[in-house]
Amino acid sequence: MNILGIETSCDDTGIAIYSKEKGLISNKIYTQDIHKLYGGVVPELASRDHIKRISTMIDSSLEEAKLNLTMIDAIAYTVGPGLSGSLLVGAAVANAIGFTINKPVIPIHHLEGHILSPLINDDSPNLPFIALLVSGGHSQLILVESIGKYKILGETLDDAAGETFDKIAKMLGYDYPGGVHIANMAKQGTDLFKFTRPMINSESLDMSFSGLKTSVNLKIKYLKENNLFDETTKYNIAKSAEEAITDILVKKTLGAVQLTGICDVVVAGGVSSNLTLRNKFTSTQLKVFYPPNKLCTDNGAMIAYVGFLRLENSTFNYSFDIYPRLPLEDIDTIYQQNKL
Ligand code: KG4
Ligand code: ZN
Repeated sequence: MNILGIETSCDDTGIAIYSKEKGLISNKIYTQDIHKLYGGVVPELASRDHIKRISTMIDSSLEEAKLNLTMIDAIAYTVGPGLSGSLLVGAAVANAIGFTINKPVIPIHHLEGHILSPLINDDSPNLPFIALLVSGGHSQLILVESIGKYKILGETLDDAAGETFDKIAKMLGYDYPGGVHIANMAKQGTDLFKFTRPMINSESLDMSFSGLKTSVNLKIKYLKENNLFDETTKYNIAKSAEEAITDILVKKTLGAVQLTGICDVVVAGGVSSNLTLRNKFTSTQLKVFYPPNKLCTDNGAMIAYVGFLRLENSTFNYSFDIYPRLPLEDIDTIYQQNKL
């Protein structure tokens, strides 16, 4: 059985094929670079770029998997959350293909894709587990009781962790997405600035990053005014910011483990590829699972895989809608009520 996965929630076009028998047999990701000019994702341009590339990417994915369209048994696509124009491209293409080959089409929650992506690996967590979801738009601690049963234990009250990386990178003169630039600079830096770690000692599992962002901003302003903003200082700022963000994430995850008594932890979303974060988790007692490296950021493989897990939720009428805001906790009820 082969599931075609289509991810177009933001600025990555992700096309993949998951085979029940062979696992992941194709995974194509195109990260749009047009947005670099604007310092952030421009929704209109994102949807136009998805349209431009999606058919050729599906063709090359089928070629990589040595399949033709008639050998696809179901199509899974991201139904939300995300940018409406971008989501519509994936939804329309998925339903058009399903209609053409008369196969089921399965709407998938983007964040469920991220959370369950480590299950593609042979060494995967036992249910229930805790998921730390850290992406450009989300920072959440989620109790995963079973597939489809999710409880948010804590989340950011302001900026997401990835967004904080991006904004600090921008202050240091780097393009979006900035997380990887901060990580690279931090390798050469020292944690001289010891930035604030908001809410780190509060009992709540909620997080906050905006105070950290502000203190980095003020420090940069001061350094610039005093002609102290050289390359080494930039590296030190990156290191101090990375240390602060990752300390918050690890401390809150430990809090979730303490609260639930569950030690299996999944760390997913773009920020999960950060090595400092991973090293900090290694020095805890937790059993931490990550998606395969290529599946940390947005991709079609996680959508194809969750499509495989959720095949019974498929629809045959090919009428569809998209949901730019889609609550994860209610996802099973939404499926049961056939509202997707
Ligand atoms: O999951 P993702 O690809 O897209 C969203 O759904 O948001 O996550 C993208 C985020 C960006 O904020 C990016 O800066 C961050 O993940 N990111 C990183 C690293 N690689 C990507 N942040 C810190 N360290 C990294 N190595
Ligand atoms: Zn994502």
